[in-house]
Amino acid sequence: METPDTTLDQANNVEAGMPQRAWRQHITAFVFVSILGFFLAFWLSRPSQLSQLPVDRLQSLNQGWVDEKRCAECHEQAETFWETGHARTLLPVTDADSLKLLKQMNSFLESQGTPTSLHFDDETVLAVHERDGTTSQIRLDWCFGSGEHARTWVGTLTDSNGATDEVEFRWSWYHDIDGFDITPGQQQQAGSGYFGGLGLLFDAPKARKCFACHSSYLPVESGKIQTSELHAGVTCQRCHGPRQAHVESEGEVTDPFWKNATQLESIHRCAECHRRAEEQPEADVHKHNGNIARFQPVGLVQSPCFQGSQMTCLTCHDPHLTLKAQDSLGIWQCTQCHDGTESKHVLCSAGHETGCIDCHMPKIKMDSPLKFTDHWIRIRKESESSP
Ligand code: HEC
Ligand code: HEC
Ligand code: HEC
Ligand code: HEC
Ligand code: HEC
Ligand code: HEC
Ligand code: HEC
Repeated sequence: METPDTTLDQANNVEAGMPQRAWRQHITAFVFVSILGFFLAFWLSRPSQLSQLPVDRLQSLNQGWVDEKRCAECHEQAETFWETGHARTLLPVTDADSLKLLKQMNSFLESQGTPTSLHFDDETVLAVHERDGTTSQIRLDWCFGSGEHARTWVGTLTDSNGATDEVEFRWSWYHDIDGFDITPGQQQQAGSGYFGGLGLLFDAPKARKCFACHSSYLPVESGKIQTSELHAGVTCQRCHGPRQAHVESEGEVTDPFWKNATQLESIHRCAECHRRAEEQPEADVHKHNGNIARFQPVGLVQSPCFQGSQMTCLTCHDPHLTLKAQDSLGIWQCTQCHDGTESKHVLCSAGHETGCIDCHMPKIKMDSPLKFTDHWIRIRKESESSP
């Protein structure tokens, strides 16, 4: 909350420096400038508040957590859920899937003649980089991403304040090519500094954000992530709140959020991690910018479908099933509203009865070997960014 104070101070200084005129004018100017200052402060403080959201919510989840194996006693959701991307989005490096890919990666790095290599020893994986006669190294300890799209490894370290920093490894595995390439957001050219050849060094606040969007229980003490207690993955209580009281009472409703949420509240809850439209610079949100496809809520709220109905993410997604298990490319998602009965909106004016997603929600290629589904459902012009 530093921004609002500074801005209000500045606003008041402007007011104080005004020539002394009538008393009334003075008050009016003060009120006006204060209101202006308030809105400016609000506007300026928005982005940082938004990006804090996942971290803040995780703090509140630390109370009343219960073992999620218990959910299966009473809920069928727990039978299918553990296969989803959410459940598997963060793994310890020693997970079998992670180790298998890292071993393949090591052969890849060698075949490419890169100055980076991986060394495996019992429970540890060491990434080593040699440059100009000096060697730098980091122990990789987490694997981000379920592998539906990609996997990126990170190593954590304790900084001089005792807080957890992180190095995001330079090389990632991509599902679409079943192979390896530079991590999304990193430069083709290796950076400078001790960790430059190994990847990007993130300070503690940034490291914490990474974990906050990929885990459900994240105890932090004086900036240090208590990794032994961390619950990896986006699991039941991340979306349903702590459930100890619910389990002990055998079903008392403790967090009815999803039943009562308005359309926007619902979208925003998913967008805590999938990103809200307000988090994107306004100038970036236009039909020719394919990059925003990565942030599904951003496009969705621009769509006439969303704006003309009560559509939320749940209209098409069941968070307890894998995408495949919910016939994710079917036309049922569209015919909920476009089935030609009078009360249910229009049919395709180009006359198509199948393949809705191909034309109105195509997959868009990113710079890295990644594709995302464009959730800005619309009639697309030839000139717009395309698959
Ligand atoms: C001993 C049985 C039991 C266990 C264990 C249990 N639940 Fe429930 N749960 C119920 C019952 C019964 C209801 C229906 C309550 C109602 O609708 O009045 C319910 C409803 C729910 C609901 C919908 C209503 C609400 O409270 O939001 C959610 C979500 C839920 N449970 C999540 C969980 C999670 C997550 C776990 C595991 C941490 C869990 N439950 C463990 C019995 C259980
Ligand atoms: C705590 C952060 C977080 C929240 C909250 C969240 N997601 Fe996700 N979601 C993720 C991450 C991380 C992934 C990537 C999973 C992976 O590694 O494949 C993901 C993946 C997905 C996928 C792809 C699933 C798959 O199995 O490949 C869908 C669909 C999705 N989320 C929908 C939703 C919806 C709908 C909501 C709200 C009900 C929601 N998410 C809330 C973080 C979150
Ligand atoms: C604001 C929340 C948020 C933060 C912070 C965040 N992620 Fe994610 N991450 C997501 C979501 C949501 C997805 C799912 C994207 C999708 O499939 O549409 C995802 C997906 C991924 C994937 C799978 C590949 C992909 O693009 O689907 C990897 C790997 C990943 N994140 C790594 C990281 C790392 C490493 C960091 C920190 C440097 C990080 N993430 C920070 C929310 C976040
Ligand atoms: C990504 C967020 C997310 C995760 C993770 C998640 N749920 Fe849910 N769950 C939801 C949403 C959203 C709804 C409301 C669905 C709706 O209204 O259509 C819901 C609804 C429910 C309900 C009520 C269903 C009903 O018919 O009223 C139960 C029970 C439930 N979830 C249990 C679980 C359990 C158990 C887990 C873990 C195994 C889990 N959920 C994981 C988002 C999630
Ligand atoms: C009108 C239907 C519809 C709505 C509403 C919808 N989605 Fe999707 N979503 C899809 C389809 C179709 C796919 C592609 C499925 C596939 O590839 O199997 C998809 C894929 C995804 C994926 C996987 C990554 C990607 O981009 O391909 C994520 C994550 C996701 N949606 C999140 C969300 C979130 C968050 C919301 C709410 C803001 C949402 N979706 C609303 C239809 C929808
Ligand atoms: C929850 C209801 C709902 C769902 C589900 C839905 N739509 Fe829509 N859609 C609407 C509404 C409302 C409009 C605005 C139509 C109007 O103005 O009469 C619209 C408009 C459209 C338009 C015209 C957009 C433009 O650029 O003018 C297209 C194309 C479209 N929908 C395709 C789809 C497809 C494809 C799906 C499935 C992936 C889908 N819709 C799912 C409600 C929905
Ligand atoms: C081969 C590409 C293609 C497929 C497949 C397709 N559409 Fe369309 N759709 C279009 C085009 C092009 C237009 C615009 C036609 C025009 O300008 O009149 C359109 C227009 C629409 C509109 C706007 C109607 C209006 O009067 O504003 C809706 C709604 C729509 N489609 C829904 C769907 C649904 C639902 C499906 C699947 C059952 C579907 N489309 C399949 C290309 C397609």
